[in-house]
Amino acid sequence: MPSTVPSAGRRGASARLRFEPLAAAHIPRLIDALLDPAVYAWIAPHRDEPSFRAFCAAVIAGPGDRFPDQTWWNHAIWERSTGEGVGRLETTFIGRQVEIAYLLGSLWWHRGLGSEALQWLVSEIQTAVPDAVIWATVHPQNLPSQRGLLRNGFGRTIAFPETLRSYDSGDFVYRLLENSDAQT
Ligand SMILES: CC(C)(COP(=O)(O)OP(=O)(O)OC[C@H]1O[C@@H](n2cnc3c(N)ncnc32)[C@H](O)[C@@H]1OP(=O)(O)O)[C@@H](O)C(=O)NCCC(=O)NCCS
Repeated sequence: MPSTVPSAGRRGASARLRFEPLAAAHIPRLIDALLDPAVYAWIAPHRDEPSFRAFCAAVIAGPGDRFPDQTWWNHAIWERSTGEGVGRLETTFIGRQVEIAYLLGSLWWHRGLGSEALQWLVSEIQTAVPDAVIWATVHPQNLPSQRGLLRNGFGRTIAFPETLRSYDSGDFVYRLLENSDAQT
């Protein structure tokens, strides 16, 4: 299905964070946060700086002809007060199916910044694609990520499309609930 999603995400800000479409010039300023082994307890690690750089170059290049039905947004996350690189956001659109991932360096955990980044990204996605159905896949042991999703309007489901890119067998799958789904 051809996508009408803007090909690059927008820049923006929340109370404590700034977000910018990921660019090659950002990579050196994100290395300290994102080559942190603690970040990769439940997701595939970047082994070293060259593999991290190669990964970033590939996501900045975008889906191209390999995945013509997809649009990718990648954002760098900066702390507004210090200007330091905090982490990054990933968004994959296949029409109105939208998949997200978020990674923050461990120095920035447990301060509500993961939730802040997640809320900003959901708002951006809903502005771009008002009828988006937003998904996240999570390792069953990744409790911080699961708590963050539940706290921000997502619910776990066993009914999900086969086309989720980040799904690994056994993952828990979360979908942003519509107001009418919200549990009381
Ligand atoms: C998942 C991840 C993004 C969560 O980030 P985070 O910034 O620590 O998340 P939050 O701060 O919003 O929530 C974490 C804790 O901070 C607490 N918190 C929330 N707002 C807060 C605030 N304003 N002040 C202090 N603490 C706060 C929350 O209650 C929560 O506590 P709990 O885990 O004991 O319930 C982060 O752990 C991470 O990057 N992990 C590695 C990558 C990864 O696994 N990504 C997910 C892939 S699916």
